[in-house]
Amino acid sequence: MRIITKNVSLKSVAGSKNITPVLFTKSDQTEFVQGKGQKSLSFGMGKKKITRRTFIILLRRLVVCAKQHKIQKIAFALSELSAPKGLSQFELGSIIAENFEMANFEFRKFKARPEEGWNEMQEVIIAETANTDFKKGIERGCIIGEEVNKSRTLSNTPGCDMIPTLLADKAKSAAIGTGIKVSILGKKEMQKLKMGAVLGVAKGSEEEPKFIILEYRKGKKIEEPIVLVGKGVTFDTGGLNLKPEQGISDMHMDMSGGAAVIHAVIAAAKLKLKKNIVGLVPAVENMPSGSSYRPGDILKSMSGKTIEVLNTDAEGRVILADALTYAKKYKPRLVVDVATLTGAALVALGQHACAFLTKDKKLEDLFSRLGEESGDYMWQFPLWDEYEDSVKGNFGDVSNIPTSNSRYAGVINSGMFLYQFVKDPQTPSEQMYPWAHIDMAPRMTAVPGDYLAKGSAGAPIRFLVKLLEEY
Ligand code: BES
Ligand code: MN
Ligand code: ZN
Repeated sequence: MRIITKNVSLKSVAGSKNITPVLFTKSDQTEFVQGKGQKSLSFGMGKKKITRRTFIILLRRLVVCAKQHKIQKIAFALSELSAPKGLSQFELGSIIAENFEMANFEFRKFKARPEEGWNEMQEVIIAETANTDFKKGIERGCIIGEEVNKSRTLSNTPGCDMIPTLLADKAKSAAIGTGIKVSILGKKEMQKLKMGAVLGVAKGSEEEPKFIILEYRKGKKIEEPIVLVGKGVTFDTGGLNLKPEQGISDMHMDMSGGAAVIHAVIAAAKLKLKKNIVGLVPAVENMPSGSSYRPGDILKSMSGKTIEVLNTDAEGRVILADALTYAKKYKPRLVVDVATLTGAALVALGQHACAFLTKDKKLEDLFSRLGEESGDYMWQFPLWDEYEDSVKGNFGDVSNIPTSNSRYAGVINSGMFLYQFVKDPQTPSEQMYPWAHIDMAPRMTAVPGDYLAKGSAGAPIRFLVKLLEEY
């Protein structure tokens, strides 16, 4: 979609007959008005107070509505769009472009094109825009919206195609021309690094695991990088602890954290951030077979700690353990992992926010604020010491689910497990690096109120980009 800003009146741009002018009203109704010769869209914004949250939905609703009316080109005057108070022109432009792009996206790769073409917007003209910050915001928003949509394509791609090798190939091809160096470790390289956790989970699959590394270094030479880690389980059957019927169908999206990390790093590069950023994505398929890891198996992780696998379906945290250990070699100033880690996060939050966990006070506040500002809402869970008993193994150093098999506090227990691989009692902060974990399972798929197409919601890339910009 092209988003064009023009410092002229709406009348002068909406003269052509393929361009539908949008007139905003305070009513609750939206209608397509077919006046004398000129069609227009009368878009009801409603009477409710417009906040950042409702504004995002309003923008998406506008695109969805235009698509429903088979309109391909719209134009409106910026001054008529009531934006929430307190937004800078730059932020306003960004929010508009991000959400227009996101609302226009649909996953059509496997659908025959209808004769009359897709209902898809091609052009938005925003009239009466003189402000250069606004235009810069539009540019930023377009870059982010496009990367969000690319990650949605990866997540939506069925498991038969989205195997670790393909995810690695896609990371490589998407990064071409961005200045990002992409390296892919295969099974042999992982064996050399003693990544017993990733290799253990991958054992049941015929597909070779891959460890995807993206390195973007446009910051000061001496500056330590921010490392993003994304769960790349390309299909999660649960392994020998096979998932039941309802649990398994969306599990081709279990690499959504990985896809988000890949495209957040690419977005950062396209935005030309002067930072050092690394993305790490352990990619595996979790399959039941004669060669699978078994419940009760004890894996030796890269950290040296042994992991007692009491449930092969708690595989995400196991592969992330090695990635968090690998992250150490960068001496990072921040590590954030992103994963569709637990159904418990959905039980707790529904589908409107990601869960996050950290021991770092500053990150607590930052994540809540950036969640609100980006539209990828974040809600905190505790990582108190009281919960640490849940990860003690019977026969291994840590167990991947509580030995009691309790389903209580599933989000916290998985965070506590990851923390075992970040923890370092030797250093004053008791952590190897500042760290936060994002459980994005609640935001893996879009829900109707999001005004996004069915399938991946593209979370939390908008949040990650803001974090990379601000931290
Ligand atoms: N990928 C799933 C979590 C998930 C569930 C993500 C639903 C998105 C939607 C994860 O690997 C998993 O299976 N977790 C288990 C953990 C349990 C065995 C402790 C779960 O949540 O049931
Ligand atoms: Mn699982
Ligand atoms: Zn999983």
